[in-house]
Formats: sequence, C-alpha cells, structure tokens
Amino acid sequence: MSHQRKPIIAANWKMFKTVSEARETAVRLKALLDGGPALQSREVLVCPAFTALAAVHEVLSGSGIQVGGQNLHWEDEGAFTGEISAGMLLDCGCRYALLGHSERRQYFFETDETVSRKLRAVLSTPLIPILCVGESLSQRESGRAEEVIQGQLSGALAGVEASGLGGLVVAYEPVWAIGTGMTATPDIADQVHGIIREWLARRCSADMAAATRILYGGSVKPANAGELMSRENIDGALVGGASLDAESFSRIVEFK
Ligand code: PGA
Repeated sequence: MSHQRKPIIAANWKMFKTVSEARETAVRLKALLDGGPALQSREVLVCPAFTALAAVHEVLSGSGIQVGGQNLHWEDEGAFTGEISAGMLLDCGCRYALLGHSERRQYFFETDETVSRKLRAVLSTPLIPILCVGESLSQRESGRAEEVIQGQLSGALAGVEASGLGGLVVAYEPVWAIGTGMTATPDIADQVHGIIREWLARRCSADMAAATRILYGGSVKPANAGELMSRENIDGALVGGASLDAESFSRIVEFK
C-alpha cells in the first residue's frame, strides 16, 4: 500500500443473503465502523445481491460505506430479460460496479469482449469500475499467469482512450485462491500487482498507473489482511467469504 493511494476494502456478498439478512449485516457493519478511524483513511464498500441493493444503501447512507453492484449489462435499457443496467445500479445508490469477476467468466460465459462492453458502459456513468482479472491454477502451473492477466487487461480496455481511465480500479483475483482458503502469498500478489501496474503505465501513462488502486482478492481474512496490505503494490482487498460476517469484515477493514 502506498500513501498516495487510498485503499479500498470491498465486500462481495455474491449470491448470499436475503434482503432482511443483508440489512441486518449492514446495520451491524455500520455500528462496528461508525466513527472509527478506518473510514477516514479507507474507502469501504459492500456489493450485495441486486435484490438487497436499495435496502443496504438505505442503511448505509451517510455512514461513509458505499454500495456497489456485482455485475451489469452494457445497454442502458431494452429487452434483455434478467439483466440490470448501469443506470439502475446508480438508481439503487451504487457508487461502484464489479466487472468480469471470475465466477461471471466461468459460469456465465463472460468474455473479454463482453467485459469490455460493460467497462465502456460504466465509464460513461459516474460509477467506478472494479475490473477483475486473474489466472486459473492450470494457467499458473503452466507459467502463463502473466500472459493471461495481460490478455484480460488488454481485452477489457480495448477501444478505451487512456484519458478516460482515470478512475479505473483493478482487482487481481487468482481463481485458485477464491473461496479455497488458499491465499496467494503476499509476494506472489505484490509481484502480479507490479506487473499490472507496469502494464497500465505502458498502456496509459506512468501517472495513471501510479494512481490506480489494485486490489487483491482470494481468501482474504482478518488474519492475512494486514500482511497483504503492507505490500507496496496492494491497495486494498475484494473479500468474498470473510465479508459475509460483519465482525470479520470490519476487522479486515481495520487492518493494521
Ligand atoms: P473469497 O472470494 O474471499 O471467498 O475467496 C473473493 C471474491 O470472489 O471476490
């Protein structure tokens, strides 16, 4: 973590929690973090299921904790049954949107091309995109991690002017570390984040790369958050399992 970049700690609640459960967790989280120092120095956000977005936003409004969507469609509106647009996320109070999460790529056939369309849609709104990239275990074992991540970045950013990417947030989430209890070591994560930052410097500019927050995701817990965040290139965390419980997520937010 560098002092010039404000860390972001994001909760990804995936397909968990009914509206009342989500509201309850948000109330608890707000009580735990309210008035503490963490919300001054860190950006904190929660990405609930679409059904709970409005309720969670209502609970958290004024607390400094933001809300984000887990996915969206690239069109503004239309006959796209089951989909949600960037405007609808904004309407529910969202400030951020996750894009290209590996579960979307793996189970819902998202490609770099569709992720790129979503990124362009988000960039035309006030939403802040959190672009997820990461290699699978077999890709890492065959020495292709770097190539895969760079391919995902160039695919997602295709056709986007560097000048429009000022607010981009990237999340490095190695697929083999998501929900498995296997965290990338801080050394591995920091090294990959460095590669992402160098790629952004070549593609955009050194200033843009130096200002871009790169989050780590994959089995982040209270016990490993501090060590991960101590690394120069790790600017926050995207937390799945350990974010479902307000106490555990608040301890990650308050990492030392
Ligand atoms: P995890 O999930 O923390 O449960 O590994 C992270 C994510 O998928 O965003």
